[in-house]
Amino acid sequence: MEVVILPTAEDCGRVVADVIAAAVTAGPDGNRPTLGLATGSSPVLAYRELIRRHREEGLSFAGVRGFLLDEYVGLPAGHPESYRSVIRRELTATLDIADSDVHGPDGAHPDPLVAAREYELRLLENGPVAVQVLGIGANGHIGFNEPGSSLTSVTRVKTLTEQTRRDNARFFERPEDVPRHVITQGLGTIGRAQHLLLTASGARKAAAVAAAVEGPLTASCPASVLQWHPHATVVIDEAAAARLERADYYRYTLQHKLPHQPY
Ligand code: F6R
Repeated sequence: MEVVILPTAEDCGRVVADVIAAAVTAGPDGNRPTLGLATGSSPVLAYRELIRRHREEGLSFAGVRGFLLDEYVGLPAGHPESYRSVIRRELTATLDIADSDVHGPDGAHPDPLVAAREYELRLLENGPVAVQVLGIGANGHIGFNEPGSSLTSVTRVKTLTEQTRRDNARFFERPEDVPRHVITQGLGTIGRAQHLLLTASGARKAAAVAAAVEGPLTASCPASVLQWHPHATVVIDEAAAARLERADYYRYTLQHKLPHQPY
């Protein structure tokens, strides 16, 4: 995997936006890519940069389809913290992406197990995802594949750890409002994307980043599954890189990139 260490979270946002913009402009208009979208704080600066490029530089997303990684179970459709609402607010509503082209698991379905199976099928029909944006939980989760998740899992219902519920309580009025269950793409589902693009910033993520990048490939750190993928890029700021043992080598490879070598 390629590890890109940059001074600030803003720099990371620009590089993540570069990769997404390259995927969006790569194909002919009739063949626009499917993007895998994460929610949470990590990709927000990249999303803002994409919105800026759309407004100021004419970057068009027409025809692009977006697929969310995950969704809370039990929030009513349209709830402001449902990931469908979040991605609309933070990205897609401001771009030229039709609402009907943004997909996510149906967390309000009367049977979440059925909703999970349906979402996996929809992903299979619309795949492959060209670029899958990922954040990482402080416990090493990607999507909501909490530690212990099968490395080949597909979309399914998961129970959030108490740590993840506490981490996400900042988005809800009261900590007890954070749902206990989610529907998440599995690690096998995520692995079908052509390019995995994980971004993280801040010291709070440093241990999880080190485990994912340099630790063993293990279900105990679900993000370590990136080591198994043929094209994975990790874009992190200095604080999130603080516990990497090979940080100097990653900086060296970045400095000596071939002129047109993409991320
Ligand atoms: C969100 C998601 C999660 C987050 C992770 C990090 O769709 O799948 O894996 O990426 O919990 O969250 P932030 O970025 O808020 O620190």
